[in-house]
Amino acid sequence: MTKPRVFVTRSIAQEALDKIEQATEMEVWPEELPPPYEVLREKARDAEGLLTLLSDRVDAALMDAAPKLKVVSNLAVGYDNINIADATERHIAVSNTPGVLTGTTADLAFALLMAAARRVVEADNYTRKGRWKTWGPKLLLGQDIHNATLGIIGLGRIGIELAKRGRGFNMKMLYYDEMRRSEEEERRIGVEYVPDLAKLLPRADFISVHVPLLPQTRHLIGAAEFARMKPTAILINSSRGPVVDQRALYEALKSGQIFSAGLDVTEVEPIPPDDPLLTLDNVIITPHIASASFTTRKEMALMAAENLLAGLRGKTPPDCVNPKALRS
Ligand code: DGY
Repeated sequence: MTKPRVFVTRSIAQEALDKIEQATEMEVWPEELPPPYEVLREKARDAEGLLTLLSDRVDAALMDAAPKLKVVSNLAVGYDNINIADATERHIAVSNTPGVLTGTTADLAFALLMAAARRVVEADNYTRKGRWKTWGPKLLLGQDIHNATLGIIGLGRIGIELAKRGRGFNMKMLYYDEMRRSEEEERRIGVEYVPDLAKLLPRADFISVHVPLLPQTRHLIGAAEFARMKPTAILINSSRGPVVDQRALYEALKSGQIFSAGLDVTEVEPIPPDDPLLTLDNVIITPHIASASFTTRKEMALMAAENLLAGLRGKTPPDCVNPKALRS
């Protein structure tokens, strides 16, 4: 019996590749950079399965060029790189990797929060550049984290994990979400619901964004939102770059409207080297590494492999985001 053809768009954990290889005729894109769109479309032509990353665009034109495609397994919790409605219409199952990266992503969000508050990267650069002359009473002053107020925008899995870290620092925690949790859950997590984002912003010392990228969350944080924040506020974004209007963020940071920001994601990735944000000292930018721990990336890869193989067998992948695709 011929094995189904699959295309894996980057070299992922070997354990996952081994599993896929046992059951399929697998091709792995060997480069560090993603396959160009045209190449991905060509590779998809005969494929029954694709294992993709968030930098691979999977749209209607690609799916139309891939008549045998049954499953697209995305190695990420976010899947805004895939047009879900088009996949569902074509009976193509799409899956993601939720859960396994929750703690690791919250760790990085909290690391950015701490680094941006205490100017850790700036201070390290200061030392390396030989500028450390003496202990200075006003040298590199930052903002306290303990006892501060943390505003969580989007209280899903990752937002809840962030709240756990905030509790350890005795932070007061507010959240805004379209969907309110039950009062019992709010008590357990230790958060207060603020039904209006505009009312949360002036109360928070830290604002951390944890929403998916959807038409209604694009530029959720823009000039009007920065205008409501404290001049000492710190914005953290580890969700998706376009959730924050980056031009407005630049203005807010440059003018001192807010204190600093920590970003793991940018509107365009990678951020162009001439982006004005890169000229500022009061922003830390990491290259979309929130889930990048050895353990988590391996678990994500194994989960993506399992989803892919289930889809190839005609089963609903365990982490299918569009189960309707398989109900004809
Ligand atoms: C995701 O899984 O969506 C993250 O952005 C990747 O770390």
